[in-house]
Amino acid sequence: MNLKGRSFLTLKDFTPEEIEYFIDLAAKLKADKKKGITGNSLKGKNVALIFEKPSTRTRCSFTIGCIDEGGHPEYLGKDDIQLGYKESVEDTARVLGRMFDGIEFRGFLHENVEKLAKYSGVPVWNGLTDDYHPTQILADFLTLKEQFGILKGLTFVFAGDGRNNMGNSLMIGCAKMGLHFICLAPESLWPESGLIDECKEYAKESGSTLTFTENPDAVAGADCIYTDVWCSMGEEDKAAERVAILKPYQVNKELMAKTGKDSTIVMHCLPAVKGNEITEEVFDQHAEVIFDEAENRMHTIKAVMVATLGE
Ligand code: CP
Ligand code: NVA
Repeated sequence: MNLKGRSFLTLKDFTPEEIEYFIDLAAKLKADKKKGITGNSLKGKNVALIFEKPSTRTRCSFTIGCIDEGGHPEYLGKDDIQLGYKESVEDTARVLGRMFDGIEFRGFLHENVEKLAKYSGVPVWNGLTDDYHPTQILADFLTLKEQFGILKGLTFVFAGDGRNNMGNSLMIGCAKMGLHFICLAPESLWPESGLIDECKEYAKESGSTLTFTENPDAVAGADCIYTDVWCSMGEEDKAAERVAILKPYQVNKELMAKTGKDSTIVMHCLPAVKGNEITEEVFDQHAEVIFDEAENRMHTIKAVMVATLGE
């Protein structure tokens, strides 16, 4: 599989085989690291990490993943560079592309990560935009594979803000990889119809099904229930409205009972607002898997850099 020079903006751009390759490479890098083996595939490579929004997991994953492979990461926070204020995104991309070998971007507008990829001439990795969070999905799928051994055929529920970056990206990932995806959310928060139509095409290929429902009974038989914050970064003004409409979709004891089984796992991309999208009780019961998932951010992000930039 040759993914050298490719950017990683959304999972839409990758085939199921390529997505599987990232996950399997991450599993190998993880096993190596547990044995104390790190690599040098990024030796001599300089990587820019642009963050318009805060981050714990993504920033640390890019930093450690890069250093483990012998590269040099440079953090560029929102007050450190001119991006979009005194200098256009296009010009910033052209400057950074002359100096760096790869660029990570976390920010608001998805079109900005696309512009960085178009104008920098080096691989650009999406560390989260308002619309998509694709590196998170690789970590989530590695975690699912660790738990179940397979992805295809699993029943996967996303409960909460179905049209945020996580709802969108999980739907794309499930449709591509053959998981049965259930979006459990009020209709006003279902993903955009254009994106649903694209995902239906992927689902035809993979054997996945896509369901959109307001009925919490839809969790019956679920292998995994996934949730995320009700108010994403940049939407803080919507807090009261979201709590009011999303309360019936909280991942709590009652919702877990509706699965009808004890083996359903719970996942969360983190950070969590306990008492909103998930109760402290359910979070604690499933903390082991949730923190495996957080650790897997590092192994999967390392795999993305190694696959697209490594020697
Ligand atoms: N899940 C995730 O992206 O976490 P951070 O916001 O801490 O990077
Ligand atoms: N939907 C969340 C994801 C955080 C990792 C946000 O954008 O804030």
